[in-house]
Amino acid sequence: MNSALKEVLQTIRCDELNASIVEAGLVKQCDLNDSLAIVRLVYGFAAKSQHAAMRQKITTALRQVAGVRDVRVDIDTQIVAHAAQLGVERIGQVRNILAVASGKGGVGKSTTTVNLALALAAEGARVGVLDADIYGPSIPTMLGISGRPESEDGKSIEPKEGHGLQASSIGFLIDKDEAMIWRGPMVTQALEQLLRQTKWRDLDYLLIDLPPGTGDIHLTLSQRVPITGAVIVTTPQEVALMDARKGLRMFEKVSVPVLGIIENMALHTCTNCGHVEHIFGSGGAQTMATDFKVPLLGSLPLDMRIRRDADDGRPTLVSDPDGEVSGMYTAMARQLSVSIAKLGKDMTSKFPKIVVQAT
Ligand SMILES: Nc1ncnc2c1ncn2[C@@H]1O[C@H](COP(=O)(O)OP(=O)(O)OP(=O)(O)O)[C@@H](O)[C@H]1O
Ligand SMILES: [Mg+2]
Repeated sequence: MNSALKEVLQTIRCDELNASIVEAGLVKQCDLNDSLAIVRLVYGFAAKSQHAAMRQKITTALRQVAGVRDVRVDIDTQIVAHAAQLGVERIGQVRNILAVASGKGGVGKSTTTVNLALALAAEGARVGVLDADIYGPSIPTMLGISGRPESEDGKSIEPKEGHGLQASSIGFLIDKDEAMIWRGPMVTQALEQLLRQTKWRDLDYLLIDLPPGTGDIHLTLSQRVPITGAVIVTTPQEVALMDARKGLRMFEKVSVPVLGIIENMALHTCTNCGHVEHIFGSGGAQTMATDFKVPLLGSLPLDMRIRRDADDGRPTLVSDPDGEVSGMYTAMARQLSVSIAKLGKDMTSKFPKIVVQAT
């Protein structure tokens, strides 16, 4: 690395990691080739929307350096696998699993999952969604996917594609009415099978839309699925917050880091008069976040367009990518991706396997 250039790069900050881009380890190359400065950055988190501004900042700064006439800045995204619970078998081609849970049903977990997944993809990550909500699979509808998935060998399942996301759903495999009478162990077995038999293709993140509740099914899944981190979705309503707390404690118990809380349906603005109301109350999610020392990633409005877009199979991130609501989802997705990047790396493949054999 060219030391004069590096010195200047030291002064450029990465806001997401709150450090200089050099200290944060983003700079992989900085050379001076005749009068051309060549810089290569590798981001370990999804933040493509920030790359242009970063490129501009670096270009402007390096142009001031004596002997530099032109600047070339390449920025890549490379998301690595981070640690999951000890002893849980990892899933091939899936680097990080993100569980989205709510406790209470109907708070907007699926809508949030789909929009976060699309936002992560828009920010440069390879993303999949697993619809694990056995009682009401809704991800395929929200992604505009229909029909049964293909299977080349009769065993594995090809993920379906919707708006650039890979998706698999428990709804592909079972009948809705039949699911109602399934018992806990059947559900967890079916979900584990679906997760492990879907042929995911090179995913940075797999988001799992968990069924509502905090019972046995959740506990088993949180012990058997290699989860990098969890996100809790709640409305500001006391009954939802109570269940969300239960969900949060459950992840704590099984040592899955809770990366944040998302408050959904927080504010409603009347489309006629502009009056703003906290229909489901206010402040509870922030209190919960403070109590558990977990970040509140954001508060989404109760907005008819969010519902309509999801119902139409074109979630807000697709139908209005530059709108305010999409901006909120994107900011939350980026924050999640950054907190995952800060977690410990997965070292399981670096250690020899210890096999105990009975003699
Ligand atoms: N912020 C929002 N504004 C308006 N409508 C919303 C919002 N979030 C979700 N909805 C709507 O609320 C309903 C419930 O949302 P969703 O299906 O995402 O919730 P869920 O928690 O996954 O529910 P379930 O427990 O049934 O799986 C849906 O009709 C959805 O379109
Ligand atoms: Mg749902």
